[in-house]
This record gives sequence, C-alpha cells and structure tokens, in this order.
Amino acid sequence: MDPQTLEERYRELQAYVGWTARDAARVAAARPIVAPSLPALIDDFYAEIERHPKARQTITGGAEQIKRLKGTLLAWIGELFEGRYDGDYVARRWRVGFRHVEIGLDQVYTNVALSRLRTGLHASLREGWRDEPPLLIETIRSLDKLLDLDLAIIEDAYQSEYMARLQRTERLATLGQVAGGVAHELRNPLNVVKTSVYYLRNARGPSPAKQEEHMKRIERNVELADGVISALSNFARLPTPTLQPHALEPIIQQALENNPPGPGVVTTVVCPPEIPEVECDQMQIGIVVGNLIRNALDAMPGGGGLAITARRDDDRVLLSVADQGVGIESENLARIMEPLFSTKTRGLGLGLSIARSIVEKNRGSIQVESEPGKGSVFTLRLTAHPKEKPSS
Ligand code: HEM
Repeated sequence: MDPQTLEERYRELQAYVGWTARDAARVAAARPIVAPSLPALIDDFYAEIERHPKARQTITGGAEQIKRLKGTLLAWIGELFEGRYDGDYVARRWRVGFRHVEIGLDQVYTNVALSRLRTGLHASLREGWRDEPPLLIETIRSLDKLLDLDLAIIEDAYQSEYMARLQRTERLATLGQVAGGVAHELRNPLNVVKTSVYYLRNARGPSPAKQEEHMKRIERNVELADGVISALSNFARLPTPTLQPHALEPIIQQALENNPPGPGVVTTVVCPPEIPEVECDQMQIGIVVGNLIRNALDAMPGGGGLAITARRDDDRVLLSVADQGVGIESENLARIMEPLFSTKTRGLGLGLSIARSIVEKNRGSIQVESEPGKGSVFTLRLTAHPKEKPSS
C-alpha cells in the first residue's frame, strides 16, 4: 500500500476506535511505569514462542536471531509510548505483517503473542499504579486502543501480502497446468496430421481410397485441434450474456446437430409444448447443452441411452441430460466442475467449468447426480420467462 493511503487508512481506523490526543498523552505518561518490566515481558514473549513448534520453526537463525528480535520488539514497544503516530510509525507497523508473511509465520501467532504482551503490560501498569485506579483504567483503555490499531495494521499488511503471494503462485500453477494440457491436447492431433502428410507425400502410388482415408484423418484431427482452441477461447472470454426469452427445443436440437450421437446411442428428447421459454443467451446455453451432450457421449463409448428432458418447476425450467454411461466416482463428483479437473484421458478439463460459469452468468445453476456404472444426470435450472409462450 502506498504510504499516503496507508496513513489515511490509519487515521480512519483511529477515528473508528475514538483515538484522541488525550489517549496519546495517557499512553506517553505510562512509559516510565512499564519500562522496568519490559525486559521480563520480552523474555516471556520469546519463551512462549519456544514452546510452540509451529511458531518456533520460523526462527531459523538460532540464539543470535532471537537476540536481534528481542531488540526489534523492544523498539516496537518503545514506539508505542513515544506519541509519534505519523506515517513512518504506521509504515513500520505495516512492515511487521509483511515480514511475517515472508518468514511464513501464521498470523494467529501474532494475535496470541499480542494478547500475551497486552496482559503483561496491563499487569505492569496495575503494579505501578496501585493507588490511582481511575487513571489506571483510562490508561489501560487508551493502550488497548493503540494495540488494537497496531494489530489491525499488521493484520491488514499480512492479508494483502499473503493474498498477493497466493495469487501469484496460483496464477503460475494454473498457467503451467493449462500450458501442459494444451500442449498434450494439440500434440496428438498434430502428430496424426504430420504422419498423414508424410504418407501422402511419400507413398508410392497410394490408392484413391487410401488417399481419401488420410485426407479424412487430417480433417478430423484439425477439427480436434480447433476444438481445443475453441474450448480455451470460450473460457477466456465469456461475454456478458444477452438475456432474452428463448424456446429450449431448438437449442437442444442445434446442440445435438453439433454433437451427433453415434449409432449405438438411443436419444430421446422430451420438451413438452407447455414448457415456457427461458431467459438466457441462446448461444451460450447452446454451448452448455453441447458440452453436456458431449460428456454424456464420452461416458458411453459402447453406446446406451441419452435422455434430454425439460420440465417446469415453478418459476424455473429444469433441463436434464442423462446418460447410461460409466458414471462418476463420488470422490470426483465434488470436483468435476473445477477448471482443469478431468477424469478422462483426453480433454483439458474445461467443459464443465465453462458450463457452470456460463449457467451462473445466465442466472441459473447446474447440478449433477451420478452412480458409478449406471450413469449421470446433469440438470440445468434456468429462469422461466414469465410470459406464456405464444400459441402457434
Ligand atoms: C505482537 C506480536 C509481534 C510483533 C509486534 C512483532 C514484531 C516484529 C517486528 C517489529 C519485526 C521486524 C520487522 C522488520 O523487519 O522491519 C518482526 C520480524 C519477525 N518476527 Fe515478529 N512480531 C510479533 C510476533 C511474532 C511471533 C509470534 C513470532 C514467532 C516466531 C515472530 C517472529 C518474527 C521473525 C522470525 C521475524 C523476522 C526477524 C528477522 O529479520 O530476523 N514475530 N516482528
């Protein structure tokens, strides 16, 4: 965070807890009271860290580092009582959270360590001010506000740095996964194309039938490669849908035409005329239904039944695509709509995550039920258009 924004944030938090110049004066006046107890408090702070392996493991420099850290902590506590809560003060607090992320310290340890330190400071104030209870109570209140503010800044820094690092790591991991998946998916069809081109160039007097077979193979594999690229670009730019009322039947028929079931598949489509139109982006829902049909067909390499059924459920229309295929193991069921997750030997693992993303943008949802060995049912819940369908 840039220094100016950080300072503004601190001022805003000060206003929130009701921090005033009187609080600052009270804390400053307590300095001589707490000073003698600080070395013992700091020793206790690090002794407690020693007792907790997960906190201790972040201290890798042994006694030398602990000695330095004790000096750092003493300076940090000292600044609390100095009364200069300027931009530099806030930046130093911010750095603590940042540094803790760097060393891999879980923020919970800072929270509990601060609680321990707070208890120690309270005790030393009580000890030093036995005869002045009203002043004691007010000073403890002011000190608590200050410690809360410090912790808020440290936590804020921790969270932003932690998230920034997580995002960077996740982005790189995703990029690696996508690159690996794309390379794998494109290499196969390209190799087939290469082999067929080689054959056509070099075969001595190939029969017209052989030539035709290789041309078809090239065509099929170029389409496969094109499919990989379409899946990626579908994922990369899912435009905002244009929601309009559309009848489902033509969407289903078009999706079937684009993904024709093989000869061993018995397809049934049930879309009664009383089913209302749904509010959706026709092209986008077409992609979803196409993806579901393709998945169903992939799940039934030896053929089986494909049933596409639309029914009304109050102000929603449910469209289910059921297959009698291999089904999905229960441990995979929760993950199949995650991007890049696939149980197939081929494919990028984007089809269902694209489907979910599109359906949600079209104000719907998608659910799956499956029984291994029996088949799966994917159900889209879409919004019914309130007006009745015009009678034809
Ligand atoms: C009230 C809670 C805590 C405060 C106020 C605090 C304060 C600080 C400060 C001021 C720094 C130096 C930041 C810089 O480089 O500018 C630091 C670094 C560090 N803190 Fe903390 N800390 C707290 C809790 C903890 C805990 C519970 C651990 C547990 C191991 C810990 C371990 C470390 C380590 C290892 C460093 C890096 C030190 C180095 O550069 O060698 N801190 N902390």
